[in-house]
Amino acid sequence: MTSRPDIPIHDRGGNSISTPIEVPGISRLAPYQQGKHAISGVAHPIKLSSNESAHGPSPAALAAYRSAAGQLHRYPDGSQSDLRQAIGAALGLDPDRIICGNGSDEMILLMIRAYLKAGDQVILSENNFEMAKIHAIAQGGDVRIASERDDRVDVRALLGCVTSKSKLCIVANPNNPTGTYITGRELRSLQAELPTGCLLVIDGAYAEYVDRPDYDDGASLVDECSNVVMTRTFSKIHGLASLRIGWAYCPPNVVDAVQRIRTPFNANGPALAAAAAAIRDRVHLEKVRKHNIAWLQRIADALPRMGLGMVPSVANFYLVCFPPDQDKNATEAAAHMMRRGIIPRPAGASDKCLRLTVGLDQENEAALAALADYMLSQ
Ligand SMILES: Cc1ncc(COP(=O)(O)O)c(C=O)c1O
Repeated sequence: MTSRPDIPIHDRGGNSISTPIEVPGISRLAPYQQGKHAISGVAHPIKLSSNESAHGPSPAALAAYRSAAGQLHRYPDGSQSDLRQAIGAALGLDPDRIICGNGSDEMILLMIRAYLKAGDQVILSENNFEMAKIHAIAQGGDVRIASERDDRVDVRALLGCVTSKSKLCIVANPNNPTGTYITGRELRSLQAELPTGCLLVIDGAYAEYVDRPDYDDGASLVDECSNVVMTRTFSKIHGLASLRIGWAYCPPNVVDAVQRIRTPFNANGPALAAAAAAIRDRVHLEKVRKHNIAWLQRIADALPRMGLGMVPSVANFYLVCFPPDQDKNATEAAAHMMRRGIIPRPAGASDKCLRLTVGLDQENEAALAALADYMLSQ
């Protein structure tokens, strides 16, 4: 937590003056910390800190992006029609229920703006995408945190936080930084027991990576219920993080509310064009997905041989856990990796966990070699 800097403000005559007062709670927020992206003196570090796709986007998406450059002087299509149609066709969803925006982060923000007033409660799981908490507090919301069990979202704990003031429950599935998921059955039981006046937001930023028969991205729940939304992103498996493009699949009542507050051009033209091409390219997506599945297995096999634990991940990252009974820790391991040109992301308060993105073959091999080396060091 940062505290509000106590900077005396003076007018031009040197008299102290009052300043605009921000919304309660903002002064207690720490700004979002993005994963490190550079190592001084290393031209091309191996960046495993932000769960981006090392494969980059589909060639078709790149071509669409370049061709959109010819229209930079025009406003984009505010109805986002082509991208909504492309998503609908690729995933069998109703395009009229899709809204796109500046990353899935903006979609979560829009849900909070539409459904939370000051004093209302938002329920989040212990590990959750940090921005949801920041948006809720900025809106004057009261954030309730449900504890997790075995590094998994705990539906009973989420439901235990519900009161008459609960207006949103936001669950990342898979979750970050654990990489774990709750099953379709658990998701349904959460929806069934939440009050109908509480909006369940299923944040599926890593949904495409999951390879488990009991996983459900939540789209069918959106079709059935007026209080469920699914958010998705092009930042991860589609490799378009820099373009800032995400979307939400919503029931008609939520579409209606959000369309009233969405800025008309919240998704830019090149992003809309590239994303539409990306989602049509199922071959690229499948290649990235298979690579990830294969590497998660190799990593899960390799880490225990070094004396390291790993939370069982279904996403494109993994949480490395250092043994509690040894003095090996995440800070030292991160420094060791950085000296080898690899950027990991420390995770959690205990200094016992490090989050790493699944990268290209050589990047993963380098990360594993650096970890093995650290574990053998005195
Ligand atoms: C769980 C989760 N949700 C949402 C986001 C936001 O992604 P974006 O705004 O790039 O779509 C992230 C980003 O890392 C994330 O990890």
